[in-house]
Amino acid sequence: MNHARISGTGGYLPEQVLTNAELEQRIETTAEWIVERTGVEERHIAAPWETTCDLAERAARRALEAADLDPRRIDLIVLGTTTPDHVFPSVATQLQHRLGCYGGPAFDVQAVCTGFVYAMDIANRFIRTGAARRALVVGADTFTRIINWQDRGTCILFGDGAGAVVLEAADEPGIIDSQLHADGRYKELLWVPAGVSGGYDQTRQNAAFVEMRGSEVFKVAVTTLKEIAEQILAANHMTIADVDWLIPHQANRRILAATAKRLGLPEERVVDCVRLHGNTSAASVPLALDVAVRDGRIQRGDTLLLEGFGGGFTWGAVLLNY
Ligand code: UT7
Repeated sequence: MNHARISGTGGYLPEQVLTNAELEQRIETTAEWIVERTGVEERHIAAPWETTCDLAERAARRALEAADLDPRRIDLIVLGTTTPDHVFPSVATQLQHRLGCYGGPAFDVQAVCTGFVYAMDIANRFIRTGAARRALVVGADTFTRIINWQDRGTCILFGDGAGAVVLEAADEPGIIDSQLHADGRYKELLWVPAGVSGGYDQTRQNAAFVEMRGSEVFKVAVTTLKEIAEQILAANHMTIADVDWLIPHQANRRILAATAKRLGLPEERVVDCVRLHGNTSAASVPLALDVAVRDGRIQRGDTLLLEGFGGGFTWGAVLLNY
């Protein structure tokens, strides 16, 4: 059977930066509170004319360039997003059109902040079975479009962005293992209580915004991120000492620190982009991966553990040799 290996990574953050000082002007908060409770100092916001597909295309082209691969050779696109340009068609099909790689399957995955980890698992299975050989796996969100800017419990956290990897068939792993989970009982802790089929009232402008019970989500996130790391490592007869870099969902610096502590992992081995990215939902893991690849922290041969956690709840992990 084939293995799937990352041959290139890419990321894109929109130009406009929103600082904590600017948020102080809009809502009742302080820059100190935001930094102390979340670690976020700034986040990027898509321009009014920029869509999730625009962000995804930029990240995808950078990943393809890093992989030295002609976009037309991609035979599968799996894209995690919660904020598609349209109800349909999917962002993945529009990205396929922009890249000119027609014919292979292209589809979006909705697992909120775990979207990229879900997409990696799926693309890996396509490559392992020989159904695809060169996959583009993307996490992209314009999450700030579904943020209520009056809600100080959420608007401080989120930003926009996209990250992508090219996965290619290889003789050696590559992806060692991946595990996905979901538990729908937690819906109302983190959700947008509106939707196409769920009674969306076009006249209620505030009907399509994120609602979150932050401290409850926080507790589940910390426990889950520890447990999935231990589960996937145990399943592969490995320990945390075998992991060179942990790349968790970038939800809150305190969540990253607590996860590292519970796993007995030095914080220096956790890739942390919370300060400059905020929480970019499905983009957070591939963006952090790309940052650490490009600044030279992550080297070929390193063992990486990617972890996602998001609304649903959904969660999952990917263990790989880079
Ligand atoms: O991506 C999916 C996963 N998402 C997450 O993992 C998010 C997890 N949750 C969090 O990151 C944190 O819960 C938050 C950063 C959202 C909130 O931090 P917290 O330490 O859990 O605060 P809290 O919600 O328990 O609120 C503590 C206090 C409250 O005031 P009272 O009721 O004690 O008077 C809040 O009203 O802090 C207040 N507060 C704020 N104060 C200043 C909440 N937001 C703000 C704010 N500025 N922006």
